[in-house]
Amino acid sequence: MSKSSTTFSELEDGWSYRMRLRIRQLVTIEPDEMRALFWSFAYFFALLCSYYIIRPMRDEMGIAGGIDKLQWMFSGTFLVMLAAVPLFGWVAKRFPVPRYIGITTSHGRSHTELMQIMRTEDLDFVQFTYNIGNRVVEDTLLPLAADRGMATLINRPFQRGALFRKVKGKALPEWAKEFDCQSWGQFFLKFVVSHPAVTCVIPATSKVHHMTDNMAVNFGKLPSPSMRKRMLQYFTSLKKATKQDFSQSSRIVWFCRSCLESNCPL
Ligand SMILES: NC(=O)c1ccc[n+]([C@@H]2O[C@H](COP(=O)([O-])OP(=O)(O)OC[C@H]3O[C@@H](n4cnc5c(N)ncnc54)[C@H](OP(=O)(O)O)[C@@H]3O)[C@@H](O)[C@H]2O)c1
Repeated sequence: MSKSSTTFSELEDGWSYRMRLRIRQLVTIEPDEMRALFWSFAYFFALLCSYYIIRPMRDEMGIAGGIDKLQWMFSGTFLVMLAAVPLFGWVAKRFPVPRYIGITTSHGRSHTELMQIMRTEDLDFVQFTYNIGNRVVEDTLLPLAADRGMATLINRPFQRGALFRKVKGKALPEWAKEFDCQSWGQFFLKFVVSHPAVTCVIPATSKVHHMTDNMAVNFGKLPSPSMRKRMLQYFTSLKKATKQDFSQSSRIVWFCRSCLESNCPL
């Protein structure tokens, strides 16, 4: 049975089961996350103990032993660390963690330098900006990453929200349903992830309902290459809402009595 298929109800009765239930009352955690929670707690506990308990105790002991002998205490600490650091390195090497090396940029900056590094270094991933309104990387970074077998992480998929301002008040086209798209957020994200050289997209949000909306992109169909062209054509044909549009719509809401009497004080 795999770890992830274990459920709480399947766990043996006993102290460990009761402890898990107690922990679950404090934090939202899945059974297969318990091990990681325990180890991270142990690491932080040991780290904070050394900073806030062992170090002050050592300093106090050093001062109690006489200030003129302090150099021996620090020399002793130095010698212990000299032995402990290689030992730590040896232990850390016995437990290797998956590690990926990559570089990032955004806003279309430093593409020439980025490409130079991608050509010469053996990177696992690269991160840069790509979205339906800013597609310069389609001819440069994306094909190079594919050639070099590098994973791509895409930032600013909504051009920091500017794309939403462009489509404000505009209906999502009916044909978006053909690739399981329910919102403008999903439209923009599906455009990015359907590019064959894109591995992952990292949209930002401060709102849970936007995150739920964005997460839905992980399911359902992705647009085909011909659909991507259609999406692009539709998006570029949209006229950005102008100041005048906004002021006209706001007038409808904010007309006050003085305005109606042509005596507007503003
Ligand atoms: N490596 C680098 O150099 C670098 C540089 C820049 C950014 N980044 C990373 O890239 C990611 C994205 O960057 P970003 O914040 O600049 O831009 P972004 O993801 O393109 O846009 C974020 C904006 O979109 C809005 N939004 C998100 N989901 C939405 C939805 N479903 N419906 C409507 N509005 C929605 C957010 O508003 P709400 O908050 O209201 O949802 C926010 O204003 C971040 O994780 C960031 O750390 C990396």
